[in-house]
Amino acid sequence: MFDIDPRKISSEDFPKEKSIKEKLLFLLNYAVLAPSNLNSQPWKFSVKEDSVEFLPDFDCWLKVSDPDKRELFISVGCALQNFIIAAEYFNLSCSVHYKKETVDVTVSELDTYSTSSLFPFITKRFTYLGDFKNEEVDRDIFNLYTSENHSLHFINEEETKSQLCLLSLEADMFRYIHPKYKQELIDHLPPGKFENSLMRFINKFSQYIANRELPQDLQKNIAAISIDSETPISLIKVGQAFENIYLHAFSKGIYIKPQSCTLETPMAKKRINELLLKNTNRKIVQIFFYGYPTNVDSHFTKRCSVKEKLVN
Ligand SMILES: Cc1cc2nc3c(=O)[nH]c(=O)nc-3n(C[C@H](O)[C@H](O)[C@H](O)COP(=O)(O)O)c2cc1C
Repeated sequence: MFDIDPRKISSEDFPKEKSIKEKLLFLLNYAVLAPSNLNSQPWKFSVKEDSVEFLPDFDCWLKVSDPDKRELFISVGCALQNFIIAAEYFNLSCSVHYKKETVDVTVSELDTYSTSSLFPFITKRFTYLGDFKNEEVDRDIFNLYTSENHSLHFINEEETKSQLCLLSLEADMFRYIHPKYKQELIDHLPPGKFENSLMRFINKFSQYIANRELPQDLQKNIAAISIDSETPISLIKVGQAFENIYLHAFSKGIYIKPQSCTLETPMAKKRINELLLKNTNRKIVQIFFYGYPTNVDSHFTKRCSVKEKLVN
């Protein structure tokens, strides 16, 4: 059950009568369905009799677009959260111990039946790449996922949204021009996707130059997550919250589109922090658009098997 295509996982196959270790290996199939920057899947697992250690996989680190490993650790957190949600669904309680840049999860069987409303959406979730309807979304669902570790910010003012949009246009341009950045994109996007995204960018850019109009996809609903110190563990915790947001939104028909390029170059990152946080010491670590989709083109990206991600 750990050498299969994780996309084919079914809750019917949960090894009820088998050892905890077998159960952990099964549950990791849900962990790897998590989102990650450019689908880099930068996680590894060390499985013991009743525990799993979640580790960053630096072989999958995208050095050019993610120099400070921000997205790498957030992605590990997303996988960790999927694992915890799946474990609870199958009546296993998780005791989570955060270390320096890894996380140990020890599980034990529960007698009582627990419900996990997010579990069914782990296999259904995907990243939406289309446009959003021009509709407000009830934000209350997101407030469930603020914590001492991080804050959620909603970007309301039209002027701030316009500036954010311009910054994202500039950051996008940088990644198509910078040879190493461009190469990293080409290497990690599925065939044909680089050309598609370049064409989308050129259309947006020419629209801006010709009409001085900001692109039509200036999204109505934009949110950001900030933390006060950028440590691996606080980023992993942001990833856990972000995955909860992804899944909870999905359960309500709301789609999430992470927007990372503005945080991927030092200059754009500095300006985004000035724009959204003014003069505080906090740092924006994730930006995302959200809303109701104009058309749902569900597409499921590929994943490595759990076996490929096991270490001793
Ligand atoms: C930390 C992080 C940053 C991401 N940044 C972007 C982004 O800037 N643009 C985008 O379209 N998707 C972004 N994504 C989504 C990934 O591209 C997506 O998760 C991955 O391709 C796998 O596809 P799936 O989410 O549909 O399973 C990001 C995801 C994570 C976890």
